[in-house]
Amino acid sequence: MEHTPTQIRIHEIGNYVLRQYLLETPLGWIAIDSGYAGGFAAYRKRVPLNEVKYVFLTHAHNDHAGFLGELLAESGSTLVVNQASLPRLASGKDAMPEGTGFTSRFGVALSAMMQHSSFPPVLPREGDFVLTSEQDQPFLAMGLPLRIVWLPGHTADSIGLYLEDSRELLCGDAAGNAVIAPARQAILIEDVPEFAKSWDKIIALNPSRIYPGHGNAFSPEDLARFRNKLDHLKLYSPKKG
Ligand SMILES: [Fe+2]
Repeated sequence: MEHTPTQIRIHEIGNYVLRQYLLETPLGWIAIDSGYAGGFAAYRKRVPLNEVKYVFLTHAHNDHAGFLGELLAESGSTLVVNQASLPRLASGKDAMPEGTGFTSRFGVALSAMMQHSSFPPVLPREGDFVLTSEQDQPFLAMGLPLRIVWLPGHTADSIGLYLEDSRELLCGDAAGNAVIAPARQAILIEDVPEFAKSWDKIIALNPSRIYPGHGNAFSPEDLARFRNKLDHLKLYSPKKG
């Protein structure tokens, strides 16, 4: 039998600094992350909230989970979340495990300026999909060709979403393409070897296009081109406040 591609459309309503993607699927819309705390009033004007059935969280950072609680409550949608995100979401604060650092001096300065690394805590509710491994594929189980890909390194809980028909990858912050982070790196990395392994995984997956949380979409060839920089990457320590 011939495979008929499922129509999944990517909408992007954010900007260069912070991308806000939504997937329009036959089973309803899937919001990818939320934005900064306080951003929900603006977000809801641009999104048909009644269509949003799922919220997929790429990782529990304040710029991605800032109004997650409001988005879930107002849309009545189901959260799809890595189990490793749960303690981070419950704390309502960006985790900074030992060894975490920035990929540029500018990242350090920017982070020192931004004291808003906290967000309203979120607890999972009955019916949410809590992922314990890459074997857990709730969208595939529903017949949607959306594969969850585990991409740790930027944070231990980082996951992405791969559109199997169009071969597009929403990578969260597993890679970036914003001017303040060099060579497709994230602004901040918790674990460089893990981050590099996740790039190897993306390169092997060979997506047609990569959509990062920050900056413009790019080709996976960029990761192959810059991959060796990760082998000797030195991070800049966060300023102790
Ligand atoms: Fe992040």
